[in-house]
Amino acid sequence: MTERLEDIAIAMVAEGQGILAADESTATIRKRFDSINVENTETNRRDYREMLFRANEAMKNYISGVILFEETLYQKAADGTPFVDLIRKAGAVPGIKVDMGAKPLAGSKIETVTEGLDGLRERLSKYHAAGARFAKWRAVISIADGLPTWNCVKANAHALARYAALCQEAGIVPIVEPEVLMDGPNSSHGIERCYEVTEWVLKTQFQELYDAGVVLEGMILKPNMIVPGQKCETQASVEQVADMTVRCLKSCVPSAVPGIAFLSGGQSDQLATAHLSAMIAMHSLPWKLTFSYGRALQAAALQAWGGKSENVAAGQRAFAHRCAMNGLAATGKWQAELEKAA
Ligand code: 13P
Repeated sequence: MTERLEDIAIAMVAEGQGILAADESTATIRKRFDSINVENTETNRRDYREMLFRANEAMKNYISGVILFEETLYQKAADGTPFVDLIRKAGAVPGIKVDMGAKPLAGSKIETVTEGLDGLRERLSKYHAAGARFAKWRAVISIADGLPTWNCVKANAHALARYAALCQEAGIVPIVEPEVLMDGPNSSHGIERCYEVTEWVLKTQFQELYDAGVVLEGMILKPNMIVPGQKCETQASVEQVADMTVRCLKSCVPSAVPGIAFLSGGQSDQLATAHLSAMIAMHSLPWKLTFSYGRALQAAALQAWGGKSENVAAGQRAFAHRCAMNGLAATGKWQAELEKAA
């Protein structure tokens, strides 16, 4: 039976569920492990991710898809069960990060362009055979004096569109992730500047997707929220972030796109949850909105685990709590008191 891209995309944004971004590259997971003094070995990476994927209730109830790094797509749990099978058994769709990272853009000291198109068609067909039904490619846009440049915006949008078209050809739903950084090299910009740059990036992105023939019904957008830079002196209220994010997305994202799943980007766990919930509670929306968080879903679980097998249950409880809070947020029903109750 052929699976339709549209159906996979709809499953990825099922009501009250969202996507776990567990696709940290070996270099990125090292940073996370360093913070808890755990050595970055293949076994530790396996044990950590097995803890998350075996948090059964949380996975079944709140997680619609899991983004994996290539190593994890082919990895097995300690008892030999392939991770892909664990994820499928929990009712979630396995996905794979396919970009090869943000590399310096020629001529720039700060800006990057995400690479990985060479050989991508062949890799996608291997990943599909291994069970992946969606993919992720992240472009990074920095805000600073005179940045981003049009060169950077255009090059990244073009690469994302070429990636997305190749995914759809392979029967894989592309997550299109153009991230405007809140914690870039100079993150003192205000929320208005984030709005302006994100609008520019998204308008460019959808033109490129159109030019590449990408079917909007068979993709998911993974954007940043509209927030001030991390070092900005004027931070925004939850309502302001929700209002400006929805306004920006409505003006840029066609309603043919089935779902938008946000990255957390360096927001605290609770703020990422509060922002999502406010958007859904206070606005009528033409697409599903949900989470595709990495740090904001995992930070508490990582701390609770600390690399010790006797802490696996505590790590799973912390993960389950964050999943439940974000599951509520994805229906607009999260409230701050629920955090304390736990
Ligand atoms: P964060 O939620 O930690 O930003 O990660 C999401 C992600 O997948 C970045 O590519």
